[in-house]
Amino acid sequence: MVTRLPGSHAALDLVVPKLSGAIEGTGDNVWIEVIQKMDEVYTDLVDSQTALEEQNARLEEAQDFIGSVLGAMTDVLVACDTEGRIQQVNPALEAIVGKKERTLIGQPIAELFQEKSQGVVTGFLQALRTGGKVSQRDVSLAATDSQNALISTICTARHDHRGRLVGMVLVGRPVGELKRAYRDLDAAQEKLTRTQQQLFVSEKMAALGRLVAGVAHELNNPISFVFGNMYALKRYGAAITRYLTACDEEKTRDEMKTLRKDLKIDQVLRDIGPLVDGTLEGAERVRDIVQELRRFSSNQQEQPEDFNVVRLIRTAADWVIKAQRVKPELRLELPDRLDMTGRKGQMHQIVVNLVQNAADVLDGRPDGEIVISGERQGDDIVLRVADNGTGIADAHRDKIFEPFFTTKPIGSGTGLGLYVSYNMAAKQGGHLSVENRPEGGAEFILRVPADVRNEG
Ligand SMILES: Nc1ncnc2c1ncn2[C@@H]1O[C@H](COP(=O)(O)OP(=O)(O)O)[C@@H](O)[C@H]1O
Ligand SMILES: [Mg+2]
Repeated sequence: MVTRLPGSHAALDLVVPKLSGAIEGTGDNVWIEVIQKMDEVYTDLVDSQTALEEQNARLEEAQDFIGSVLGAMTDVLVACDTEGRIQQVNPALEAIVGKKERTLIGQPIAELFQEKSQGVVTGFLQALRTGGKVSQRDVSLAATDSQNALISTICTARHDHRGRLVGMVLVGRPVGELKRAYRDLDAAQEKLTRTQQQLFVSEKMAALGRLVAGVAHELNNPISFVFGNMYALKRYGAAITRYLTACDEEKTRDEMKTLRKDLKIDQVLRDIGPLVDGTLEGAERVRDIVQELRRFSSNQQEQPEDFNVVRLIRTAADWVIKAQRVKPELRLELPDRLDMTGRKGQMHQIVVNLVQNAADVLDGRPDGEIVISGERQGDDIVLRVADNGTGIADAHRDKIFEPFFTTKPIGSGTGLGLYVSYNMAAKQGGHLSVENRPEGGAEFILRVPADVRNEG
């Protein structure tokens, strides 16, 4: 008899009739049993074959997945055994060292690195073997392109299912690119700082240009009284010379007395002292103004120094107001002294800018008034420069401290005054802000630490 087995069992189909024919006399039942057993075994075989194929497919899938993950990694990855022999690398590493995984497998891991880094990498292995910790380090790969050689790396131990150390995995991030980006950023930052410094200088030069008339005025006053005094001294000198010459001419006592009276010698002698003092004072004033001017125009980095803010405000405001065609009223609400330690030139420049803006908004107005007040508040000096001008339009409030924002015609505004002042205040650890006054006009408030040396 022929028993049909399920599936494509052509070989069995042939075998079964042969067997049944060969062992004559054996009971049919026995054969059926044997064949059934074989059928069961065969079915099991087919089942496990299918399961194996499925498992294999899953394994391939998992391997593909891991491969794609490793391939997608931009970080480099190397796995090695406890002896440091390479077991696996990813494509990112292949690309940097310019070698394929198959040529690397079995090679010592240290050979992937430049000589200077080899010790570090073997050190990782040693540390892991002795149960120590491995911290992040920068090492250099033996790269084909030196710009990509530097990697920031971290190593971890690899264990088998029984927890035994079987090797290590090294993962590294190429930082050459990052370092280059940082360098570029640094260069850009430096360029920006330089440009900003140039802006500061141009602003100062523009302010200086506008101040010249006021400064000239300021200089005029002491110079004219130095001149006046010198002319008087010259006259006095002539009188004294005449009197002394007469002394040698054997004149009588009475003649000398009359001459002394005519030449007003006593008055001359009384006046000489105060005249010389006045002249010296005038010369000192000229020297001070020139010094302030030099300081104002200097581009050198200033060192903090002690000074009286009240004097500084007077000078700065005078310079600006004296240059105005129609001079606004200047009211100072200041104590006798306001001492501070800071960058005097910068403070001067800020005050000049604020007073200049107030004078600009009041330009030509007969009732213009600028009020400058100042006081010490705790550790700070607070100055307010207020005017009775237009105030700041709401739409401009956010913009006035930006560079190049100006509402003034070309030639009279650079739009840099407030930008520079704001930055200078901030650099000293202070702050510049503005409010519109309820009665009209703007009020700028400058707050700076009384001692900048206390600032970081
Ligand atoms: N006291 C003020 N009153 C009204 N507007 C002002 C005052 N101060 C500044 N502003 C406004 O802020 C702008 C920017 O000032 P600033 O930075 O000093 O540049 P600039 O004076 O060259 O225009 C001015 O053009 C003006 O519109
Ligand atoms: Mg200005």
